[in-house]
Order: sequence, then C-alpha cells, then structure tokens
Amino acid sequence: MILGVCGGIAAYKSVELLRLFTQAGYEVNVVPTRNALRFVGLPTFEALSGNPVDISLWDGGGNVTHVSQGLSADIIVIAPATADFIARSTHGIASDLLSNILLTATAPVVLAPAMHTQMWEHPATRANVSTLRKRGYIVLDPDSGPLTGSDSGSGRLPAPKQIFDAVEAQLHANTGALLGRHVVISAGGTQEDWDPVRFIGNRSSGKQGVALARAALAAGARVTLVAGHMEIDPPAGAHTIPALSGERMHKVLVDLMAEQPDCVIMAAAVADFRPLAQSAHKIKKAHGLQSLELEQTTDILADICAQRGGGSTPLIVGFAAETTESQQELAKLALGKLAAKGADAIIVNNVSDGQIFGSDSTEVLFVDAHGTTGPIRGSKLNVAHAVVHRLAELLGPLDSSPRTINI
Ligand code: CTP
Repeated sequence: MILGVCGGIAAYKSVELLRLFTQAGYEVNVVPTRNALRFVGLPTFEALSGNPVDISLWDGGGNVTHVSQGLSADIIVIAPATADFIARSTHGIASDLLSNILLTATAPVVLAPAMHTQMWEHPATRANVSTLRKRGYIVLDPDSGPLTGSDSGSGRLPAPKQIFDAVEAQLHANTGALLGRHVVISAGGTQEDWDPVRFIGNRSSGKQGVALARAALAAGARVTLVAGHMEIDPPAGAHTIPALSGERMHKVLVDLMAEQPDCVIMAAAVADFRPLAQSAHKIKKAHGLQSLELEQTTDILADICAQRGGGSTPLIVGFAAETTESQQELAKLALGKLAAKGADAIIVNNVSDGQIFGSDSTEVLFVDAHGTTGPIRGSKLNVAHAVVHRLAELLGPLDSSPRTINI
C-alpha cells in the first residue's frame, strides 16, 4: 500500500492512519510531498512504517521509483489530499514523486481531502473532484467541524478510522465472493501465422484479462488464464496456459470446459480471420507481390456457449469492442452480441480513436439479460473488481447453481 501525504495541517493525522494500517498488518510505503514534511518529520514516517521514505524522483537509481511503486501498490491512499494535489491529479501533472506514482498506478486510489471550506466548495475543486470520481478514484467527502483557525465548516480530514474503513472496504470488496469457484479467463491477442516470421495480430495488450485474473484471485477463485500474446506478465497465483493462435486457444478452452469451470470470461481478442495457408518457409520478397487469402476462424465464444447446450454452467461472459460514442447504442450492440453468441453477459467498451487498447484505464458496460450495469470506469483493475462483483451476484451462493438466463 502507498500512503501519500500532502502538505496540509491535517498531515499530523496521517501518522495515526499509518499506525492503523501497520497494526492491521499492511505493508505501507509512505510518500510525503515536500510540503508535508513541513508538518511531520520524515523520521516519523520511516519509524512508524518500518520502510525508508523517498520523496524525490531522482533517488531511486535503476529502480525508477515512481514506476515500480505505482505498479506494485495494491492500493494508493492520499490523506490528506490538498486542493492543489487534487487539481494536479485531475490534470495529470507529474511534478513530484507522489503525482508521478499516481500516473503509473493501476491500483484503486482513495483520496481523503482536507482544506478550508471555501476551497472545497470552489467550482474548480468541485469540477476536479467530479472528474476524479468519474475516472474511478474514490474521493471521500470531508467532515464538517472546526478547521485550522477559528473557522468551522466542511473540509476537515475524515477521521483516520473512517479512512481506514473506506480503504478496507475497497480492498476487500469481493473477499471470498468467488471462494471455491474455478474461473477460466482468456486474455491477450491471438497471432495467426502466415509463415515462420509473419502473422496477423491485433492491438490487445492482455491488461484487462490479467486485471480480471487478479480480481478473481483476490475474490478467492481458482483462476486458469489462457494467454494469447500479452504485453504484461500473468499474475503468479493463476495457472497460465499459453495459447498463441486462435486454433490453440479454441482447443485449450474446449478441454477446460470438460473440467466444468464455474465461469469462463473471453477477454482475449481472437482473430476473426487467419491465412488460409501457412507456409513452412519464409516467403521471400524475391517471389514478388503476394496475395493473402484468409479464412474465418472458429468463434470460440459462440462454440463453447453452444457446447454448454441448454445447461446453465459455466457462466459465460464475452467482450465486445465497438466504435460508437452513445451508451445506448453500445448497450444495444452488446445485447445483439449476447443473443448471437448465446453468452450470459457481454462486457462492451468503446474503442473509437484507439481508446482502451494498451491503456491502463477503461470504461465498460456490463450487459446481461437483467439489464445494463455501468458505465464502469477507472483503472482496468478497478473495472475488473466491479465485474467480479457482478459475476459473483450472477453465480449466486456456491451451493446453488447459477441462474439460468433466458434471452
Ligand atoms: N471471440 C471468440 N472467437 C473469435 C472471435 C471472437 O471467442 N474467433 C470472442 C472474443 O474473445 C470476445 C467476443 O468474442 O469475447 C468478441 O466478439 P466479436 O464478434 O469478435 O466482436 P467484435 O470483436 O466486437 O467484432 P465484430 O463487431 O466484428 O463482431
């Protein structure tokens, strides 16, 4: 966990919050801003966290501190978050270690603001907070009461225990929700060979599938990850089966269906077409201009839904990438795909203008026969936690079979 502390008088309360986290067994790295150290000394944070405290972007050497800390944190808590820090975060300004960490982070972010009432109520701060919330950050409402001087009003840092509880709720939102469940997730993009050096691929990074695997593991599931080409490592807790081509992915998933998993999520971008013929030798330039004949690949999602037949297990979820801005149109397209594939749910995102692919954040609608959940926005991990929450609802308690959904 990263505890960011900004330069406000309420910084002294971050010491109590740090105590609560460490006593509860959390490993905490404190990242104060330079101004926070005007209020609380660096040795206090080091002694109470048991970890060295970095404040400079330039101290980490080869470790690239802001990237390594941002990527490895399971949650980032900023308390107090000043009006200035909130404004910088809104605009992606990376002017110190803490704001750099925030830009590299994929973990949930909880901000506990503290400032004078006028600053909290200023239209600029209101707009900034609204933007951050839309991005999926959890911005707690400040308390009301006496402020630094003789004034009183909204803007006090919420009590450390209140912040602690909000962070725990976020971290354990799905604890045990998928305990005893086996979740199969396909991730990444397939590569369809033309010759030994050339293939047809796509822009999928595998980040959303890996985030889903992490969220399902955090919810207690046993996870099998069927991995196409991915730009990131799979989580250590998942059993990963490589499957670079669509054909191989199809075979792996059909085999896994025999294990009767509870849920299958097709997050992989499977090529819809592949070269009709694969050359065993590199096709040489000297042979002149080639025409590439394509054939359609098996629609794995539709096939495993068909294999399931009339049964209700496993719960099968597909993805859809669409290029329309309208939420209504997105939901309509997802409903069409739900019926066409025979799936139980479709997670649809808007990929216009290269949005989403490779990015760490996303915005999706979760569409099933009961309706549409979302838009769910935020880091891919945040979105994955929300998806896992919905899946646990659809699966129901472990001893009952999932609800049959008729479309
Ligand atoms: N999928 C699959 N096998 C394929 C192609 C896609 O299992 N050969 C799965 C993907 O993993 C995803 C969903 O089907 O879960 C996407 O469906 P698809 O019809 O390919 O949707 P789009 O990519 O949005 O393409 P289009 O709009 O052209 O139908």
